[in-house]
Amino acid sequence: MKKIKVAIFGTGFMGRVHTESLRRLGNIEVVGVAGSTAQRARKFADEVGIERSVGDYRELLEDREIEAVHICSPNALHYEMTMRSLEHGKHVVCEKPLASTVAEAHEMIALAKTKGLANCTLYNIRSYPQLQNLRRMLENGDLGDIRIVQGAYSQDWLLFDTDWNWRVDSGSSRTFADIGTHWCDLAEHVTGLKITSLCADLQTFMKTRKRPKGSVETFKGKNLTPPADFDEVAINTEDFGSMIFKMGDVVRGSMTTSQVSAGRKNRLFLEIYGTKASAVWDGERPEELWIGHRNRSSELLIKDSTIFPEAAQSYSDLPGGHSEGYDATFKQTFRRFYRTVTERGAPIEYPTFEDGLRQLTLVDAVLESSKQQSWIRV
Ligand SMILES: NC(=O)c1ccc[n+]([C@@H]2O[C@H](COP(=O)([O-])OP(=O)(O)OC[C@H]3O[C@@H](n4cnc5c(N)ncnc54)[C@H](O)[C@@H]3O)[C@@H](O)[C@H]2O)c1
Repeated sequence: MKKIKVAIFGTGFMGRVHTESLRRLGNIEVVGVAGSTAQRARKFADEVGIERSVGDYRELLEDREIEAVHICSPNALHYEMTMRSLEHGKHVVCEKPLASTVAEAHEMIALAKTKGLANCTLYNIRSYPQLQNLRRMLENGDLGDIRIVQGAYSQDWLLFDTDWNWRVDSGSSRTFADIGTHWCDLAEHVTGLKITSLCADLQTFMKTRKRPKGSVETFKGKNLTPPADFDEVAINTEDFGSMIFKMGDVVRGSMTTSQVSAGRKNRLFLEIYGTKASAVWDGERPEELWIGHRNRSSELLIKDSTIFPEAAQSYSDLPGGHSEGYDATFKQTFRRFYRTVTERGAPIEYPTFEDGLRQLTLVDAVLESSKQQSWIRV
């Protein structure tokens, strides 16, 4: 079997998750990695067993054998790396948020289209088996008509002013762009509805943070012992956001998103209330789906794809009771992405740059709404 050769840009949390997940597919070979320096790239390459490493991603773009790239770098680099990769004829998987602005995302979409290249914005959470089960249950009308969509996405890793990451001084939105968009993408994907207007409020509790003099990688930066040597830096990105929204004339919803909620490690909570029944999914217990009834006992469904609606079954590779977690959502997304690389005309069953643009549009609306303290039509 001819393997598809791919490269990874970025050597942090996502660089590692992408590399491992790609290898699980069997038909992909990770042949190169680019880091912010040659030394960082080599260290990562040695740790995960990648032959080629470079300190400048543009070197890998000159390699004609590399068909696709995975952009796992900080957000501010997504646009430049994607545009250059597309110009060199590479298919692109780009981490979320897709770009720094809506205008950049439009350019990225236009170039991918002109070049006829596959493109993905990595809203991977959609690919949890129970969420695809829920999506199909909603399509089948198992919950009746949807009335209320609500939830939260909460983390605690930026709780203290000694917690630092490139995200805290990158872009105009932090918590909403970083994790709130995961929640919105999921809510829209699962329900098949769009947020049509919203009213949001963003809050930055810590107006300054202590930036260590030295680099910090994501989720390795949780400071049990705060840095002795730091710069006090003004912060403009939000720690917390809340939003009420409409999905058309009938459906109403609310959500909060936080990176300062002690004990909430990575809690994406989605609740859907219909005219017949309710459903709740908790990202920290992803194998379960709670179904609420009024006139009989509620149920806790345990993932078992053999009893899922047919369209959801292929999102699970293991028998019921054998957990498939966060990293499996990358494998599922990449499998569908590379199917469209190898089979022209295969259905696009993954989030594309268009979905990335959609979320940036929501980020803009949230920022505008919070600034004006009023409703914004999306
Ligand atoms: N889909 C998800 O669930 C998910 C989860 C976490 C992060 N992300 C996204 O992934 C991206 C990376 O986040 P992360 O958490 O891995 O951050 P990270 O800080 O752990 O890793 C970023 C890496 O990029 C490297 N880098 C910086 N400049 C570079 C350059 N010029 N060339 C090559 N590499 C460079 C850094 O050295 C670092 O290794 C972000 O866009 C983030 O929003 C997505």
